[in-house]
Amino acid sequence: MPFNATNEEKPAKRPRVLVVDDDKATRRALELILGSEFDVTTLESGNKAVDHIQQDMDFDVVSLDLNMPGMSGIETLKEIKQHSPTTEVLLVTAFQDIESAKQALKLGAYDYIEKPISKNAYRQSIRQGVRRRQKALVSEEAQQQLKIVKAQLVHSEKLSAIGELLAGVVHEINNPLAGIMGYSELFLLKEPSPEKAHKYVKNIQQSAILCQKIVQKLLAFSRKQKPKREYVQVTDIVESTLELVEHEIKKNAVKVVKQFADNVPRTSADSYQLQQVFLNIINNAVQAMKQQTRLGTLTLISEFDDKAIRISIYDSGPGVPEENLQKIFEPFFTTKPEGKGTGLGLSICNEIIREHGGNLYVSSELGSGTRFFVELPITEPDKPSPTVAPPDKADQMPGSKKILVIDAKETGYDLLENMISALEHQVDVAHDASSAKLKLQSENYDVIISNMNMPEFSGQQLYEYLNQVKPELLSKILFITGGVISKEVGRFLEKNRLPFLNKPFGLKEIQEAVQNIEKI
Ligand SMILES: Nc1ncnc2c1ncn2[C@@H]1O[C@H](COP(=O)(O)OP(=O)(O)O)[C@@H](O)[C@H]1O
Ligand SMILES: [Mg+2]
Repeated sequence: MPFNATNEEKPAKRPRVLVVDDDKATRRALELILGSEFDVTTLESGNKAVDHIQQDMDFDVVSLDLNMPGMSGIETLKEIKQHSPTTEVLLVTAFQDIESAKQALKLGAYDYIEKPISKNAYRQSIRQGVRRRQKALVSEEAQQQLKIVKAQLVHSEKLSAIGELLAGVVHEINNPLAGIMGYSELFLLKEPSPEKAHKYVKNIQQSAILCQKIVQKLLAFSRKQKPKREYVQVTDIVESTLELVEHEIKKNAVKVVKQFADNVPRTSADSYQLQQVFLNIINNAVQAMKQQTRLGTLTLISEFDDKAIRISIYDSGPGVPEENLQKIFEPFFTTKPEGKGTGLGLSICNEIIREHGGNLYVSSELGSGTRFFVELPITEPDKPSPTVAPPDKADQMPGSKKILVIDAKETGYDLLENMISALEHQVDVAHDASSAKLKLQSENYDVIISNMNMPEFSGQQLYEYLNQVKPELLSKILFITGGVISKEVGRFLEKNRLPFLNKPFGLKEIQEAVQNIEKI
């Protein structure tokens, strides 16, 4: 057996204790009492203790003399608790200081011990502090774990909602797609008259825009977003959620009644999270009404007073039995068959609304329907939130910039080349890495538009190349991406603050992106 084989088993870490006392002999005595069992550090003043704790928060227990010159024991206690809340503090006090020791207990010390100190009692007290800290750490870790699991559950409920939406979206896309295919075929069949050609292309354009909207709605919802608060108009979010489920609603012939108050104040909220809430409530309602033979009605109402906004969502479904009314908010409670329901929807809705400082209620009557109420506090800013200023006229004027397009695919560069020419810019095209490098070296460009996913010349490679040979061009890059950005690419774009344009885009988007590059 190799000599150091047993070294792999590390000795258990000894609990760490910081002894703070202005008297040298006491420090030495306490260190001797604890030394065999604990890893002891000693310091002679409150100031030093606080400095030390700021650097190293991993002490289990601080043994703190209450009566010291300089920073008082009470002050030291407050500071220690502020910097390292889980570190436990034991006060060491003289008889005449018992009252301040009691006061210190209220400030977070777990116990006090009187001088002269009995060895055993002191050791016991320190052990008690260590146990307390270790318990607190375990529960802190459990809280962290719980937070992670919760976030995963929220996402899994969202994925299940997306799965349901997908069927509807595919169906919705089929209509405009049929238009695009039909009209383009007609166009190519025989040379159409100019009026007909215009009509066909107009139809193709409108259908394509519809496809774009449908895909964008789904992408926006499904993207794993970091929660972020903005001032939002809640009724707009209800409307956009209705758009998402439009297909399900139509398919089940559900009548939608909207009663939205005018001028609903805005509130600070995460619009995607709220959309997730409304989506689940509306989906639940539609699913409940589906079970009935009579046609259903979904009623959406928005109202507000000076403190809160209330969105009510009524359905005319079978209702929730009294005994289930509280249970429906519990995680995993579902009455739906496996594969249909996760039972997570309402518990997540509840959590999201609570995080927004609001409330979610339900009332139901068997046989006549269910009502959900979402209440959110009004938090309108004093000043209107800054909206993006409309670009001034000069900005919108097409200008003549020299632009290099880098894309290997004909469908990519041909379209870009034509669009950029239509905007009256000068355009140059590179189809591969070597021609791109040649052009970049020999010419000067105002803007470089490059496909992020070029084979042999990815966005990252282009960036690296320019960084070495012409760093002044780094601020001229505009990337084109396919709509779904991988984590790695997302990090690269964010880290280097690089502008990008998602496919599909129109002339207006390109022009705006080009103008923005110029402003950098
Ligand atoms: N509008 C409604 N009408 C009748 N029952 C409902 C309604 N909304 C929710 N429920 C009940 O609450 C349960 C839990 O809902 P939810 O938490 O969204 O999970 P899931 O939809 O996955 O079952 C549903 O299974 C259903 O029994
Ligand atoms: Mg649900």
